[in-house]
Amino acid sequence: GIKAVVFDLDGVLVNTDRFHYLAWKRILWELGKEFSVEDNEQIKGVARSKSLEILLQMKNITMSEVEKMRVLRKKNNLYLEYITEIDEEYLLEGVEEFLELLKFNGLRTAIASTSDNTSLVLEMTGLKKYFDVIIDGHKVKAPKPNPEVYLVCAMELQIEPDECAVFEDSRAGVLSAKRAGMKVVAVSGRIIGEADKCIESLKNLDMNILDFQ
Ligand code: G6P
Ligand code: MG
Repeated sequence: GIKAVVFDLDGVLVNTDRFHYLAWKRILWELGKEFSVEDNEQIKGVARSKSLEILLQMKNITMSEVEKMRVLRKKNNLYLEYITEIDEEYLLEGVEEFLELLKFNGLRTAIASTSDNTSLVLEMTGLKKYFDVIIDGHKVKAPKPNPEVYLVCAMELQIEPDECAVFEDSRAGVLSAKRAGMKVVAVSGRIIGEADKCIESLKNLDMNILDFQ
């Protein structure tokens, strides 16, 4: 059975997705390009530098390596500006209740995000106290969809990957967790990739969500 629950951060627990989106939108605007919500789907859950590569290709932009460095720094500065005001209000629906329920039932909990801003977001939203293990962009090299972040998580939890249930909202994230050999619940209202189940949000979940037979 499931002994631990591992969460992606952006878009699953915290409403920070829109700030990544707004930061990229501003970057592209400065480059004279549009950036739509549909465009954003292509980079959901994707690492910062890889996101830039995808966007440059999508929008037919060429850029020197030095310029790329400048843009990546700018993107993160914009993101940091957008999140200066976040607090518990930015938690997505049902998050704290579900985390309490997991604790009450003796499950271990972890965060697996490749964002370098994970710690900051967890502190600002008061989420840190809920997790036994936190793996972020500073702890692993390979971004999702590589399974590294989820494998390191299982190792630190001292639990087998197939005893972990993962909550993910992006294609790259679902792929990463499935490659690690974990069960996956897509928090996106529809099945993404090889996800085992899907839900709209963490609101009103009960322990049955962790039955995968
Ligand atoms: C998460 C987000 C992505 C973001 C990535 C890197 O996966 O969903 O939008 O690009 O983390 O985050 P960072 O905060 O390091 O730019
Ligand atoms: Mg996500």
